[in-house]
Formats: sequence, C-alpha cells, structure tokens
Amino acid sequence: MSDPHPQPLLGRVIVVTGAARGQGAAQAKTLTAHGARVIAVDVSEAEDCRLLDVTDQRAWQELTDELACAHGHIHGLVNNAGITWRARLAEVQPEDFERVHRVNVTGPLLGMQHLAPLMRSGASIVNVGSSAALTAHYPVAYTSSKWALRGLARAAALDLGPRGIRVNTVHPGFIETEMTASAAPAFREANLRETPLGRTGTVDDVAAVVAFLLSDASSFITGADLPVDGGLTAHGGVKSISDALDAAGAAP
Ligand SMILES: NC(=O)c1ccc[n+]([C@@H]2O[C@H](COP(=O)([O-])OP(=O)(O)OC[C@H]3O[C@@H](n4cnc5c(N)ncnc54)[C@H](O)[C@@H]3O)[C@@H](O)[C@H]2O)c1
Repeated sequence: MSDPHPQPLLGRVIVVTGAARGQGAAQAKTLTAHGARVIAVDVSEAEDCRLLDVTDQRAWQELTDELACAHGHIHGLVNNAGITWRARLAEVQPEDFERVHRVNVTGPLLGMQHLAPLMRSGASIVNVGSSAALTAHYPVAYTSSKWALRGLARAAALDLGPRGIRVNTVHPGFIETEMTASAAPAFREANLRETPLGRTGTVDDVAAVVAFLLSDASSFITGADLPVDGGLTAHGGVKSISDALDAAGAAP
C-alpha cells in the first residue's frame, strides 16, 4: 500500500541545530525528504549548513530577523545540538559543568525564545534529550544538563500550548555517531547488554521520530518525553537481574 502522506512536512520551514553531522545531519536529510525547507545550523562548518553557535544570542537574533524577512513565520525547531563531557562527580570542574549546560540547556532556551514568536498554531518544537535524562547516567554535567532540558521543555509546552505550539523531547539511547565513537569500547558493550532490542541505534531511528513529532500525525502530543533507545530505560536497570537468572538456568 502506498504511503498516504509521502511528504507530511511539505513547505514547512524548520530549523535544525547541530546539523553538520551525526543525528542533526540525518534529521535535516529526513525532514527535507518529507518536504520541509530545512535551515540547518551548526557551530562547525559543513555544506548546506549555516554557522550558528546556539549559545550566541546575537546569532539567534540575526537568524530570526532573516527568517522573518524571508518567510514571515516558521513551522518547527529541532534543538539537537549538544555536547558531552564524561567527568564524574568528584572530578568535574565548574567551568566544564557550566559549558555543557550552556550548550545543552541555554542553547535550546535561546532557540525557543527567538523562534517561538515566529511560530503559529500547528508549529512544533522537538528537543533532543538523552537516556541520561531518564536515568542516573554517570557523566554529571551531561546528565544534569539533559534533565534540565526536560524541565525546560515541559515548562515551554505549558507556555506555548495556548498558542497551539507543541514542545516534545526525544531521548536517544546509544546512537552510532562521532559522540559515542569517542567513548571507551566498554561503554558501547555495556549499553548493548542493557538494551533489550540488542542493538545500538542509528541516526535514522531518531530522525524518523523527530519527523513524526514535527508532523500533524502527532498533533495532540505535547510536553512528552519519548525514549528512542531500544528499551534501555524502560526496564529501570533490572535487565541484569533477568539476564543473570537466564544465565544461571534458574527455575521460574
Ligand atoms: N549519540 C548518542 O548516543 C546520543 C545519545 C543521546 C543523546 N544524544 C544527543 O543527540 C544530539 C546530537 O548528538 P550526536 O550524537 O549527533 O553528536 P555529534 O557530536 O556527532 O553532533 C553534535 C553536533 O552539534 C554541534 N554543536 C556542538 N555545539 C554546538 C553549538 N554550541 N552550537 C551549534 N552546534 C553545536 C556539533 O558541531 C555537531 O555537529 C546531542 O544533543 C546529544 O547530546 C546523543
């Protein structure tokens, strides 16, 4: 059967941050394939990507002015840009803690503050959180920033709801990108052990859900947290108990 809505985002203007590579690049590609006019931005240079540091208020203002001039209003924002920092509680330096929060929390705040005024009813904002925002993940700066982003998204959903603008957060588990490639092999192996679907995620796994949340197919979903993690966070940390009993051949 053919897809009744081959281009569910046709003609929609959508800004994607952190789109030079990884998940953001895949989101830009998927949204474009769904008919959207994507404005890809990143602090790193890449083809078809505008330079914008999400922590830079002036850069957001310039983009806002240009979009207002060119399109009048826009339909979506994906706050995808993010950085990690893997220091644990005892070692993390306040300046690194603040740097991570600035990109992962202040960046999305600035994006929403600048672009929400250009949105009308039916627009949608998607934040890219992390399974870290649903668990006690060990890198404290990253984990606390993603929990803060969750709270920011909920508050934004409350504020923007009356204007018909939705705000949701996807929480990827272990996705194969340069971010996770920089982690120790043990990190990947442990994630695989904890993931019921038994595989790591792809950038396309997340991009498809981002596209859904930007489309009218999700028109009554706002303020939601949606894990895209192969079941990693659903078992609440007890998969190892189930696995241990299986390994021991224990009777039910
Ligand atoms: N890869 C994973 O397993 C995973 C899991 C959970 C959540 N996430 C989140 O997904 C998002 C995308 O991560 P990824 O895996 O594609 O990582 P990545 O490191 O491959 O890509 C991140 C992109 O964000 C850009 N960026 C960083 N700081 C920026 C800034 N100040 N302004 C604009 N752009 C900036 C980078 O230049 C890069 O292009 C991040 O928010 C990350 O925290 C990733």
